[in-house]
Amino acid sequence: MQTASQVLDRVLVLEMVRVTEAAAIAASTLTGRGDEKAADAAAVEAMRASLNELYMDGTVVIGEGERDEAPMLYIGEKVGSAPGKGPKIDIALDPLEGTTICAKAGPNSLAVLAIAEEGNLLNAPDVYMDKIAVGPGYPADMIDLDKSVTENICAIAAAKGVEPKDIIACVLDRPRHEKLIAELRSLGCGVVLIGDGDVAGVIATTDPDTTIDVYMGQGGAPEGVLACAALRCVGGQFKGRLLFRNEDERARARKWGITDLDKQYDLSELAKGDCIFAATGVTDGSLLEGVKRMRGKMTTESVVMRASSGTVRWVKGEHRTDR
Ligand code: FBP
Repeated sequence: MQTASQVLDRVLVLEMVRVTEAAAIAASTLTGRGDEKAADAAAVEAMRASLNELYMDGTVVIGEGERDEAPMLYIGEKVGSAPGKGPKIDIALDPLEGTTICAKAGPNSLAVLAIAEEGNLLNAPDVYMDKIAVGPGYPADMIDLDKSVTENICAIAAAKGVEPKDIIACVLDRPRHEKLIAELRSLGCGVVLIGDGDVAGVIATTDPDTTIDVYMGQGGAPEGVLACAALRCVGGQFKGRLLFRNEDERARARKWGITDLDKQYDLSELAKGDCIFAATGVTDGSLLEGVKRMRGKMTTESVVMRASSGTVRWVKGEHRTDR
């Protein structure tokens, strides 16, 4: 039997794009239609059907929620065509990252998937995570959630050889970030406020064309793990700390084996070993173009990357709708 690593290498890398393409195409039928739930449901159903065609013994470790909350792609759900036979693969997924964006036809809505050998992705509960991320090329451990916003910005600026006022930060536009935004602005930093979609926000730090130097603030923990899988492939730094609003959320974390609830996680602890990240654009964004529907065809843009080799493949798809 092939090892999980060989299967990741030979089979699943490109197959993953089919999975994210299917979810993005399904969601795109509802782009701008104002119905977040319907768009998400369409993406979930399409992703699940495609995942079940892949030769693997897959387990969803980050999915649509707990079994009693999510009808499909719930945490713990087995997927793949070879249960008990194929390689054991852990899967983190978000069939429609940015449901509101898709419903409003805004930027940066994605279908996202990350896979790794069993045990290599943190089973993050669906709680918030405090996050800070930068792209590649900086001194190790430069960013730290135990340091102040000002200290982190000064460290980034010093490493980049610029003034703190020259740093551009990406932050989710939320009332909870009022203090963070005020501190960034008091330093003279540019603040790019995004309405949703912090997987794309974190990945934007790795692309000089976006001019974004750092991602900061609180977003979903599952999205944090997905973004880490991408950063493991293209480089960059990430620190994350789970945030709990009540005892129920703490209990959920313990259920998934998390004992130190205050731990600051490094990128390498959130997504370990070899992993693959794939995404297809649903709407146009900084990472990918969205699905375009034309007479007789649709086009998609996807990216698939692998941690062990660092290979990044950009895949343009043309899908006939008249056949
Ligand atoms: P959905 O895909 O579930 O709509 O999440 C969108 C998102 O913006 C994430 O990118 C982000 O991590 C999270 O929501 C932030 O949560 P909240 O909207 O509660 O601030």
